[in-house]
Amino acid sequence: MNAFYGNAPGKVILFGEHSVVYGYPALAAPVTQVNAMTSITQIPGGTSGKITLEAPDIGIHEDILDLEPSNPLRRLIENLGEFFGKPVLPEMKIHIHSEIPLSAGMGSGAAISVAVIRAYAKMVGIPIARNEISSLAFEIEKIYHGTPSGIDNTVITYAKPVLYQRSQPIIPLRVQTPFRIIIADTGIKKETAGVVAQVHSLWLTEKKRFEEVFSRIGEAVYQARHCIETGSLNEIGQLMNRNQHLLEELGVSSPEIERLTAAALDAGADGAKLCGAGQGGNVIIYPGSADEEYIINRLRSAGAVQTICTTISNPEDQVE
Ligand code: PMV
Repeated sequence: MNAFYGNAPGKVILFGEHSVVYGYPALAAPVTQVNAMTSITQIPGGTSGKITLEAPDIGIHEDILDLEPSNPLRRLIENLGEFFGKPVLPEMKIHIHSEIPLSAGMGSGAAISVAVIRAYAKMVGIPIARNEISSLAFEIEKIYHGTPSGIDNTVITYAKPVLYQRSQPIIPLRVQTPFRIIIADTGIKKETAGVVAQVHSLWLTEKKRFEEVFSRIGEAVYQARHCIETGSLNEIGQLMNRNQHLLEELGVSSPEIERLTAAALDAGADGAKLCGAGQGGNVIIYPGSADEEYIINRLRSAGAVQTICTTISNPEDQVE
């Protein structure tokens, strides 16, 4: 049996979530410690065109035609059929597994899409460019997120730190001095679409205040970019704290998030903020010169259900 594989990393938004939906810039980086993985196995002698989807992490094991037409995975596979010119394919089984926590601000939906697209392209034997992978994944992000900015599919497809702004060319972020961050999971699952919709309805009623907050987040993003690109890391923590306070003003923080950020700061970390949609999900911590293990222990005592440590660096400089 022929098998074809695809995978994609998780991601964190370092600075600028939510405001990025309104056209402001944001900084994001891949998290290669957790991945989404797909294998497509062809079943010789089976029913031509039949596709079975196995995604045990989300309880799916069925013929894709038995999924709702609006199901993101069904839509993705149908879009791929269209994209590659409806090739006649043997029966196949698509298996998806993700180590990326679901609905937790780490881009699990986009990573699964990218992993499926890569495996599918290998199966049909047609090379696919990264911008095409990212656009196909973006279409599916619309089902998951409603009005996605496009940051998740971009950083996950390109798998490098980026400065992202809607409708602008992607700007790679040149990390002058690699730095560590800790990612800690509150254990609270939150659908991105709901949080983004809440911000949108508040923005409609308080446009002036919200635009001011977005613009201050945008300033923090540019300052953080400067720090990262010049290696002036001593300001990163303060900028994270500022971004967190601005996210609190948007109403996307939560007591669980603030319990973790407070524990990290109390343990000596330089800065901490929620990452992704918020109201649950993960927080990121810049430990600075504080002891990582000690911070992790304090995060665990404050309720973190999982912690991941990663280094923000340029892919070509990565040693881990
Ligand atoms: O929670 P995640 O990983 O889906 O990230 C969402 C980031 C937002 O800025 C809130 C939405 C978006 O589309 O950019």
